[in-house]
This record gives sequence, structure tokens and C-alpha cells, in this order.
Amino acid sequence: MPIILQTERLCLRQFTEADAPIIYHLNTQPGVLQYVPEPLLTSEEHAKEVIINIILPQYKNNLGRWAVHLKGNDEFIGWCGLKLLNNEIDLGYRFLPSAWGKGYATEAAKAALQYGHQQLQLKKIIAHAHVDNIASQKVLEKIGMQFVGEGIDEGVPVKGYASFGNML
Ligand SMILES: CC(C)(COP(=O)(O)OP(=O)(O)OC[C@H]1O[C@@H](n2cnc3c(N)ncnc32)[C@H](O)[C@@H]1OP(=O)(O)O)[C@@H](O)C(=O)NCCC(=O)NCCS
Repeated sequence: MPIILQTERLCLRQFTEADAPIIYHLNTQPGVLQYVPEPLLTSEEHAKEVIINIILPQYKNNLGRWAVHLKGNDEFIGWCGLKLLNNEIDLGYRFLPSAWGKGYATEAAKAALQYGHQQLQLKKIIAHAHVDNIASQKVLEKIGMQFVGEGIDEGVPVKGYASFGNML
């Protein structure tokens, strides 16, 4: 499982099929999908299908959603990363509630944004957050992404953000 990035407190690595139990656990925690228009996972087998059909194919060109672990004890706390979505590169993240409010999302997202601009030479990276998802909007603003307007994404009202690499 190749490591993509390390930060002061976190290690970001590629997922493998063996991660089905932790993906299932993450997606079924109360509140995690509150602002995310995504079907609920029904089983670990379902999570494995998502890994095979959705997550692993993103790993071309060093993109993708990466598992985030604490460096100290290797505990899995969520994921963060860059996904090719409708011809744009989208920054996204999702963490276990037990890991919220400690700055981990900001730390991981900032590193993913820097990696995208500096290592992958991406000129533009976008992100969306549900209009009511204040925590996510704060993360995007703290890492220097610019608010570009409101819209509808997969049927839900969102705030759109973009980064051109000049805030890093
Ligand atoms: C969004 C999410 C990643 C934020 O994770 P986190 O670890 O709490 O983020 P951070 O600690 O780095 O920063 C969150 C910021 O939002 C603030 N915040 C959190 N909840 C808030 C709320 N309900 N209202 C206002 N601010 C809030 C925090 O105080 C913090 O800001 P601060 O550093 O200025 O104090 C996390 O809630 C999550 O995984 N949610 C479920 C999945 C999700 O919604 N993903 C994003 C889809 S766009």
C-alpha cells in the first residue's frame, strides 16, 4: 500500500481491497454522510465493491482518495485526496467523528492541495461543500481555497471553491 504523503501528524496511503471493513465502518458512523449525497453502504462486501470499482481506478496518475492514519499509533481516521471528476480535479475528505475538531481534516487537505499543485503540477483544483456543511467550508477556507459561487451538485445545494496554487 504505497504511501503518498506525510504531514506532521498524518500519513496518507492508497487504499487496497483489504480496507473494506474500515470504509464500511467510516460510512456507517452517525453524521458522516449527513451532507454527502451518497448511498449508504449495506455491508463490508458492498464496501469492497466500492473500493474495486470506484476507489482503485482513481489511482492512475497518482490521483485518488487516500486513507489517512495517525503517525503515532497508525490508527485509521478517514480519507482525503484528489479525484478526477467531470474533467476537473476535486479535493475531498471524510473523517471518523472521533477524529473531528482536531485539525486533521485541515492538515490532510492542505497537504493534498500542495501535492496536487507542486508534485502533480495541477493548475486548478476544485472542491464543493453542502451549503450547511460549515465545518467543511471552514476547512476549505483555512487551506486557502477561494469561494467561487453556489450551485447544485448531485441534487444538493453546494458552495464551490477553487485553488490555483497561488495561496500556498
Ligand atoms: C468536514 C470534516 C472533514 C471536518 O473535519 P474536522 O477534523 O472537524 O476539521 P478541522 O478540525 O480541520 O476544522 C474544522 C473547522 O470547522 C469548525 N467547525 C466544526 N463544526 C462546526 C460547526 N458545526 N459550525 C461551525 N464551525 C464548525 C471547527 O471549529 C474548525 O474551525 P477552527 O479551526 O477555526 O476552529 C468532518 O466533519 C467530516 O469528515 N464530516 C463528514 C464528511 C464530510 O462532510 N466531508 C466533507 C464533504 S464536502
